[in-house]
Amino acid sequence: MILRRAARSAALPALLISAACLALGGAATAEPGVARDSFSKPLPNLSGDELTRFALGRAQFRTIRLSGARADGSGGLGPVFNRTSCSGCHVRNGRGRPPEDADGPLTTMVIRLGPGSKYGRQLNDKAIPGVESEGRAVFQPNPIVHVELGGVNWPLRSARLAVREPALGPLAPHVELSPRVAPQIAGIGLLERIPDAVLSELADPDDRNGDGISGRRGGNGAGRFGWRAEVATVKAQVAEALHEDMGVTSTLRPSVNCAAGHAACTARAGGGIEIDAKAFRALVTYVSNLAPPAPRVSPAADAGSEVFDAIGCTACHVAEWELEASPVGVIRPYTDLLLHDLGPALADRRVDGSLGNREWRTAPLWGIGQIFAVNGHRRLLHDGRARGFVEAILWHGGEAASARDRFRALRPADRAALLAFLASL
Ligand code: HEC
Ligand code: HEC
Repeated sequence: MILRRAARSAALPALLISAACLALGGAATAEPGVARDSFSKPLPNLSGDELTRFALGRAQFRTIRLSGARADGSGGLGPVFNRTSCSGCHVRNGRGRPPEDADGPLTTMVIRLGPGSKYGRQLNDKAIPGVESEGRAVFQPNPIVHVELGGVNWPLRSARLAVREPALGPLAPHVELSPRVAPQIAGIGLLERIPDAVLSELADPDDRNGDGISGRRGGNGAGRFGWRAEVATVKAQVAEALHEDMGVTSTLRPSVNCAAGHAACTARAGGGIEIDAKAFRALVTYVSNLAPPAPRVSPAADAGSEVFDAIGCTACHVAEWELEASPVGVIRPYTDLLLHDLGPALADRRVDGSLGNREWRTAPLWGIGQIFAVNGHRRLLHDGRARGFVEAILWHGGEAASARDRFRALRPADRAALLAFLASL
């Protein structure tokens, strides 16, 4: 067996005692020693060739693309797209967020569309001159949900989506709208090295072990990337990003990203492969070799990690994996890469407001304490609705409801330790 995962048990009572000594100066907001480039370092032990390709890929990641063919290879944008560069959404390889105003433009997030949409798999809200964009998403605030935690009222805010100015007419009522922020990407090349067989063995779609937590593989049984684990490999994810987010064709995704019937889009499409093999390969090398951010160890964080395990967070956020063929050895991403039903409040909604897909991939938590230093905000969850760790945890429902309730029942010192632990990642 190549891998190992941390205990998946929820040995409750033990912890809450060990937590007595936790209050050791563990401010949940500590961010010392985090640099803005902490998601941008290469893995150790890359060869000279790999480092050269890594640097080339970094340049590609930051290249602002333009429409049409360009001699320097920076062309191919659109005709419809969301953003002109990878780094425009994954700023310093970090986390995107929803707009501040309900009506503000989406700058670092996208709206994915469910089956049966005439606009394809993603709403492209921008277009090159002379072509109309597919439409524009606006957020309408939902009623605030009030949750009590330790005698304090936590107002949880979320929003419902609507699409305005749809170029080819309104979306059908049954189409699911799935708002997703750009995730931080450091470390994903290591997640790719977890063997498929091990992930599939960990999956428990029918909850045969009866722990209330199922866990299913996304992407037809092979998925691991994206908020819903729809994509199997980094290479495929890069091709998807070029195609869906920027309208750039590659050998993996050679067709133009125009909706059927979008005449102006089809008329302006460049045709052919818009990114050459060398640039594509460099981009994959770059993304695959970004080192996971280093956690900052402290006694408070250590104690908090025990709380995290004891209340059952590791049932999904599997702490540790041992990779045999890796320069890094043991990785601590805090994910099982499986899909879990987190309840109706986090589920996607259809255009008509009815409930859609409720499953999300367990978000890897490595780096989660460094997003503020890198990106200047604390928004979490797939649509960025949570404003910090506590809100993110309180939104957990479905299979995670009992872990959430154990979090709510924690004594203040244990809760502070848990939050210090998350901040240390
Ligand atoms: C318009 C914003 C946007 C642009 C531009 C963009 N991305 Fe993304 N990226 C996202 C979003 C949103 C997701 C999550 C997608 C999902 O859940 O399906 C994502 C996911 C990813 C992932 C998977 C991360 C994970 O944890 O599973 C990788 C890798 C990635 N993008 C790389 C790239 C590369 C390389 C480019 C440029 C070719 C790029 N992205 C351009 C928004 C963007
Ligand atoms: C049943 C599986 C499951 C359990 C148990 C669980 N989580 Fe999660 N967690 C998820 C999933 C799935 C997501 C992504 C949800 C989303 O984005 O809508 C997530 C997201 C998060 C996030 C936000 C991550 C991000 O990148 O935005 C934090 C923080 C978090 N979990 C902490 C916890 C803590 C603390 C516990 C224990 C109290 C816990 N989780 C228990 C599945 C689980």
